[in-house]
Amino acid sequence: MKSLKYSIIFGFALIIALVASCKKKESDETPAPSPEALTPYNLYCPPYFPQLVIPADNQLSVEGVELGRKLYYDSIISNDGRACANCHTQQYAFTNPVPNSLAHMNLAWNNKFLWNGLVEGKLEDIMAFEVNVFFMTNTTKLNNSATYPALFKKVFNSTPITTKQVAYALAQFVRTQASTNSKFDKYLRYETTLTSSEMNGFVLYNSEKGDCFHCHSLGLFNDNAYHNNGIDSAFVGVNRGRYNVTGNANDMGKWKTPTLRNVELTAPYMHDGRFATLEDVIEHYNSGVKQSSTLDPIFSKPTHLFGLQLTTQQKADLVAFLKTLTDTTFINNPALSHP
Ligand code: HEC
Ligand code: HEC
Repeated sequence: MKSLKYSIIFGFALIIALVASCKKKESDETPAPSPEALTPYNLYCPPYFPQLVIPADNQLSVEGVELGRKLYYDSIISNDGRACANCHTQQYAFTNPVPNSLAHMNLAWNNKFLWNGLVEGKLEDIMAFEVNVFFMTNTTKLNNSATYPALFKKVFNSTPITTKQVAYALAQFVRTQASTNSKFDKYLRYETTLTSSEMNGFVLYNSEKGDCFHCHSLGLFNDNAYHNNGIDSAFVGVNRGRYNVTGNANDMGKWKTPTLRNVELTAPYMHDGRFATLEDVIEHYNSGVKQSSTLDPIFSKPTHLFGLQLTTQQKADLVAFLKTLTDTTFINNPALSHP
C-alpha cells in the first residue's frame, strides 16, 4: 500500500513537472519574405507537452496547412498512384495495419523519425526524405496542374513549384496532426475521472514495478530516444534496428520508442508488427523479455529480473489505462480528413 501511495504521488509530481514546459520557441532563422497576406495558424500545445519549435522559415499558415493536406491525400506527388493517406489513414490514427506504418500524431514535438531513426531533425527534414527519396516526387506534374501553381504561389511566393516546397507544405499539415483530447487528456484537465481499473493501470504504468513511463513518458507517451525492449536476443538484417543507421554495436536491436497515444487503434505492434493485440504486448513485458547485451537496464532491475509477475487483473488494468489514450476527436477531426 505504501509503495502504491508513493507511486500516485510520483505520477502526479511528473504531471506537475510537465506543466508549463510547453512554451513556443521560434528558431533564429529569418522568415521567408511573404508580401502576400497569409492567415496565421495557431497550433494548440498542451501544458504537459514539450516546447513547440516551429522553424521560422516555415511558420504555419491556414493556407499552407490546407495545401499540405491536399497533397497528403493526392497521388499526384507519387509515381505509382499512392498517396500518403493510403498508408497513413485517419481512422487508425494515421497509421495502417498494412504495412504497419508509423502513426502520424504529435510529430511536431518529435525529432527522431522512422523506427530506426534514419532521419533525425525537423519535420521538414523527414518530409524532404519522403518526397525526394521515398516518393521521388516529379514536380512537373504539379507545375502543369490546373490548381496547384496558384496555391503554392500564395503560400511560398515563388515559382516554379519545388520538392522543397512540397516537403514544407506537407510538414505544415503534419504539424497539425495533434492528438490532445483523449480521455486521459480530459482527466488531466479535470473534465473526467478514470474508472478504478484505468486508475490502477495508470498507477502501475508510473510505478517502478510496471515501469512503462521511463520510455513511454507522460505527455507525448514517448521519450524521443532509442531502446532495446527485449523482443529479440539475436539480431539479423532489418532487426538490427538503430545499429543499421549508426554502425555502433551499442545500438544493436534498439528502436525509437513509439508513442502510446491511440495505441488501441495502431495494431499490429512493434516495428515488425509481431504482436496482434495489446494483451500480447503486455504479456511480452510480463514474461517474454529476452536477454541481450544491449537490453535496456530497466529490465535488469530486481522488479523485472524474473518478469513483472502481474496478476490477470493488473494486466487488464494496464490495457484499460492504455485505452484511455484513444482520441476520437482526433480520428474524426474534419480538418484532418480528405479535403
Ligand atoms: C506504402 C505505404 C506508405 C506510404 C504511401 C507512405 N508511408 Fe510513411 N511510412 C510507412 C511505413 C511502413 C513507415 C515506417 C517505416 C520505417 O520506419 O521503417 C512510415 C513512416 C513514416 C514517417 C515516420 C513517422 C515516425 O513516427 O517516425 C513519416 C513522417 C511518414 N511515414 C510520412 C509519410 C508521408 C509524408 C507520405 C507521403 C509523401 C508517406 N509517409 C507515405 C508507409 C508509407
Ligand atoms: C526501455 C524502454 C521501454 C520500456 C520500459 C517499455 N517500453 Fe514499450 N516500447 C519500447 C520500444 C523501443 C518499443 C518499440 C520496439 C519495436 O518496435 O520493436 C516499444 C513498443 C511498445 C508498444 C507497441 C507500440 C506500437 O505502436 O507498436 C506498446 C503497446 C508498449 N511498448 C507498451 C509498453 C508498456 C505497457 C510498458 C510497461 C509495461 C512498456 N511499453 C515499457 C520501449 C519501452
